[in-house]
Amino acid sequence: MAQQHDTGRPLTTAQQQLFSRTLDRLAEKVAADEPTLGVEFPYVTAPDGKWVLMPASRSAGYSGEAWSHGNWFCGFWVGLLWTAYLHTGEARFRTWARERMQLVAQRADDGNTHDIGFIFESSAIPGFHITGERWYADVALQAASRLRARLVTTPRGAYLSSWGPLDDPRGRRSSAIDTMANLPLLYWAARHSGDASFRLAADAHAAMTEQGFLRANDSTYHAVEYDEATGARTRGFTFQGSGDESDWARGQAWAIYGYVESARETGKRHYLELAERTATYYLAKLGDRLVPPWDFDAQGEDAAIKDTATSAIVASAFLELGDVHPDPARRETWRARGLDTLAGLCREEFATEDTHRGLLRNSCYSRPHREGVVSATLFGDYFFTEALARAAMPGRLLPAHGPAALQP
Ligand code: GLY
Repeated sequence: MAQQHDTGRPLTTAQQQLFSRTLDRLAEKVAADEPTLGVEFPYVTAPDGKWVLMPASRSAGYSGEAWSHGNWFCGFWVGLLWTAYLHTGEARFRTWARERMQLVAQRADDGNTHDIGFIFESSAIPGFHITGERWYADVALQAASRLRARLVTTPRGAYLSSWGPLDDPRGRRSSAIDTMANLPLLYWAARHSGDASFRLAADAHAAMTEQGFLRANDSTYHAVEYDEATGARTRGFTFQGSGDESDWARGQAWAIYGYVESARETGKRHYLELAERTATYYLAKLGDRLVPPWDFDAQGEDAAIKDTATSAIVASAFLELGDVHPDPARRETWRARGLDTLAGLCREEFATEDTHRGLLRNSCYSRPHREGVVSATLFGDYFFTEALARAAMPGRLLPAHGPAALQP
């Protein structure tokens, strides 16, 4: 039986006004940028503040030994358009979202990347939730089938391979912490289709990630490789962090986000504990700062480079914890922490100047690759937007349902 569920203390007037003003600015920026993009999608901002663009069609892949994520963020732009539509009620945002979705939909059959979760959970799922048009749900379900097909089974458990086609052994044995935040597509598909295998695949991945990624102190590896024959981790390493053993801040955020969604969808109390443990580690490292460095172990000048995308992801995850937690006091603490983080981002990191086209300043896509460093990132802007929507218009961007009854 589902437990009693309340959505938490209402926003204060000051919070309501701040979030509403920020959503106004978001809608203005998105409306100004949309006609300038052609058929491409924003990605990171350049040093002059303009968006750098990429077509939706660019898939992930290896070029020699070098891995490229390709366009894993096109769906996020659609999520911004849906949010602007919900906030303003202006039909042009809904039209743009549909047009953009036509470009994004070509990726629903992409067998190269786990990021298919990010692409469709931010675009097609809100599209279906808001309009009820079946096409969005069909596209999301097709993408979810592709993601489920990435499940690699081993004697110790099963994981979703992250990077590359499954017939490439490099892709097959690899998994990244980011995958935890791709699981909501599978959870949605299970609910929508009634086929529990989507949820079981996500649950299996979340369980194996605990074994493979969590260090003894509750920090996380960015990526691991598994021995398929035994299920043992053969190495932990990084792609975007400062070192293989370092604490890449965004990776920690993906873990928190994925475990709270897994707790909500599976009802497993253990996932709630993992969400709180990884969040507690993150907060201890963060100290009294609003925004973490891109990597908690970055040294010298690099340590001054921040990542607001991490703050946005954790703000959204904390709001979810504030919704899912069975203990009213803990629920209130997490909700307050999520709202404070979100309000801090609105006040201190939202780019109000016209020359800066992204929403949040000071995100860092990849310091090792020197890409989008001290920049806006579209994924950071999306998770900021998702957190705003969760706070200011709960249940309207993404389906809201009470948490599954938590099991011991
Ligand atoms: N690949 C996801 C990230 O950059 O966090």
